[in-house]
Amino acid sequence: MNHYIITGASRGLGKALAEALLEDENNCVVGVSRNNTINHPRYRHQPLDFSDIAGVEHNLHKVFTPFDNAQKLVLVNNAGVIGEIGYMGQSKSEHFEFVFDVNVIVPAMLMNMFLQSYQHRQAVDKMVVNISSGAGQRPIDGWAAYCASKAALDMLSQTAQLEQEQLGTGVRVFSLTPGLIDTEMQEQIREADADQFSSVQQFRDYKETGALVSPKEVSQKIIRLMEEPNLARGVVCSVRDF
Ligand SMILES: NC(=O)c1ccc[n+]([C@@H]2O[C@H](COP(=O)([O-])OP(=O)(O)OC[C@H]3O[C@@H](n4cnc5c(N)ncnc54)[C@H](OP(=O)(O)O)[C@@H]3O)[C@@H](O)[C@H]2O)c1
Repeated sequence: MNHYIITGASRGLGKALAEALLEDENNCVVGVSRNNTINHPRYRHQPLDFSDIAGVEHNLHKVFTPFDNAQKLVLVNNAGVIGEIGYMGQSKSEHFEFVFDVNVIVPAMLMNMFLQSYQHRQAVDKMVVNISSGAGQRPIDGWAAYCASKAALDMLSQTAQLEQEQLGTGVRVFSLTPGLIDTEMQEQIREADADQFSSVQQFRDYKETGALVSPKEVSQKIIRLMEEPNLARGVVCSVRDF
């Protein structure tokens, strides 16, 4: 069997990816998020709130079971938050902790545990796909925590891949920018105040002009990355590569 651990599988991109993978009877999915919205015989939900680090630490082992029959093991760190959009100097201090816990600290803990548990498994295809953002590669006003968190995810991925190559484990690690997707995260972005985010009208126009891609379409590209990882232009890659 192929086993996929997908964070944030309750809605948006993560849910579309889980549902697409479950169409193949060789695939099982473990979804990790606060809510469960998938009911399927090959789906298991692990409730976790990534803003509660102590709770995550306590329950992490429940995600990484032995998967004895695995031919393929994939971790998709997809759960993410943009947090409250606003300028530095006008934000609450807790905002930075929240965004970093959900977007960086817990994904790093999950990656660490995935590698610890499976990196030396023989004859198993092993992969980590971190869902990043173009916002990790350029500053966007009002999004400081989000931009910085995605930049951190890119560097975590590059370092982890370098280490796995030096260890000769065969694990592939990617940090994928998924493009603009029509999800609740985009709804939140469109509701921002223009004085806290100068490009808000541009993002409203993306929706109006149909520039946002469906989660289903993006999930097909992620599946292509999982099937043909050599098409990626590097550890930090884009859906445009697929
Ligand atoms: N949408 C875009 O245009 C876009 C562009 C670039 C990158 N991305 C990235 O793509 C990924 C998916 O985004 P999306 O647009 O699908 O977002 P979304 O629709 O807002 O869904 C976010 C997912 O993350 C989970 N999540 C949020 N807070 C959590 C918490 N505290 N603990 C555990 N899980 C939590 C949610 O599950 P629960 O609420 O059930 O916990 C949900 O399943 C994110 O990493 C995002 O940064 C999105």
